[in-house]
Amino acid sequence: MQDRQMTLEDDAILSDSPKIRITLRINGADRSLEVEARVSLLDALREYLGLTGTKKGCNQGACGACTVLCGEERILSCLALAVQYDGAEITTIEGLSANGSLHPLQAAFVEHDGFQCGYCTPGQICSAIGMVQEFRNGLPSAVTPDVSAPVTELSDEELKERMSGNLCRCGAYVGIRAAIRQAFQSEVSR
Ligand code: FES
Ligand code: FES
Repeated sequence: MQDRQMTLEDDAILSDSPKIRITLRINGADRSLEVEARVSLLDALREYLGLTGTKKGCNQGACGACTVLCGEERILSCLALAVQYDGAEITTIEGLSANGSLHPLQAAFVEHDGFQCGYCTPGQICSAIGMVQEFRNGLPSAVTPDVSAPVTELSDEELKERMSGNLCRCGAYVGIRAAIRQAFQSEVSR
């Protein structure tokens, strides 16, 4: 009870904090909102804009459930302040399908049983898209044998390492990697 009272008092104090108007370009549309400086991008998406596809797991950067794309880069929205992303191009899981069709990676997740409860799935999918872009840009990982040479193959070992920031409590990792392999065949088989 004591904890709850303290939370309400804290909220009352924080609700007096000045609000900042920002505009986020989310899934191709400008969304304007007023937030306090302390509001995370994750909370802005979920609580202010109703985009609940992005999930809150640990809320401290350890599970990857909140992964979204900023431009082509994958970011953890729980560790990002919304005000830092004023004017930024953000893609969430809701923005990946087009004209009623799933993104090829979404379809591959369905085909390969890349999920069970599905809670980690939006983060896994956004992360994989960002991960493949990092690979295309030649970024090495912790298991790349020679970081001075171009990375030419997205091996299973590379896939595991590069997706290691996205945890799945259901243990659907085999299906997740199979889905990524199918959706990005040219990168994986190179
Ligand atoms: Fe952001 Fe877990 S909710 S990393
Ligand atoms: Fe349940 Fe990944 S599908 S946590």
